[in-house]
Amino acid sequence: MPTGRSDAPRRMLLDCDPGHDDAIAMLLAHGSPTVDLVAVTTVAGNQTLEKVTRNALAVAELAGIDVPVAAGCDRPLVRPRIVAPDIHGDSGMDGPALPAPRRAVDRRHAVDLVVDTVMGAEPGEITLVPTGPLTNVAMAARKEPRIVPRVREVVMMGGGYHVGNRTPVAEFNVLADPEAAHVVLNEAWPVTMVGLDLTHQAVATPDARERLAALGTAASRFVGELLDFYGATYRSAQGFLYPPVHDPCAVAYVIDPAVMTTRRAPLDVELHGTLTTGMTVADLRGDEPGPDECRTQVAVTLDHARFWDLVVDALTLVGDG
Ligand code: BDR
Ligand code: CA
Repeated sequence: MPTGRSDAPRRMLLDCDPGHDDAIAMLLAHGSPTVDLVAVTTVAGNQTLEKVTRNALAVAELAGIDVPVAAGCDRPLVRPRIVAPDIHGDSGMDGPALPAPRRAVDRRHAVDLVVDTVMGAEPGEITLVPTGPLTNVAMAARKEPRIVPRVREVVMMGGGYHVGNRTPVAEFNVLADPEAAHVVLNEAWPVTMVGLDLTHQAVATPDARERLAALGTAASRFVGELLDFYGATYRSAQGFLYPPVHDPCAVAYVIDPAVMTTRRAPLDVELHGTLTTGMTVADLRGDEPGPDECRTQVAVTLDHARFWDLVVDALTLVGDG
């Protein structure tokens, strides 16, 4: 059983591929007093490993995030790498000018940093929040299986139980490395899947953007510039009026689980479909199972106002680097 203290800030490792929404997830985790961001790891996803790692370091520089940032897997476990320049641009975080990072990347491989972080903490203390392809997390579970019962929970942004974005039924992070998603979903740790059903509700409305702009800080200006670019690509590539900020939703759930409703359901991923590879499949038949029967759950409904309150509150507390 987890022994992490419930009143202490939740210790979080963010495994990401910045990425506009990953960057906002980093800022949300850093600015929230109820979360202790202990490390950031990067994985190839929205762009190459080199690019997303540089972006993570730039966000850390901008916001004064002083935790280890380690680079991880530069490709999926089995399949060829896919990237997402149509949404995130050639740099993976096009739009704002990025500060030159003063901090160096951690010397460890991200997989080792995940293992060290979990094994060095009390059982039940570390929450893993992957917001990119699940390659690093799957590799960590395979390299050091003792992390699995020690992790408090995996709260992943990825998948969806009704919709996809890269294909009609597959979401980008899961489609990019479905075998890794298979490992993560089938390990014995609790998993909350914050998928597209939920994150498509987290749109950056003009009202939310005005509240952020009113903060007038370097971090809020940076988020505004991120959202300008990301909003334009989401409009042209996917027809969204306002862009959905996926990755901060997973962080928000850790900060305040009441920001969304969840539904417990067995979950798996399609690996061999002719039309459905990378689709996450939730078994929503019948009554909702109890926590002893089922350790996976899906996010269902977002409290939009509460979500943006969390983002604005966190950005208010983020320093200027
Ligand atoms: C996910 O894919 C990436 O483009 C975003 O950063 C997010 O993690 C949404 O499908
Ligand atoms: Ca991401």
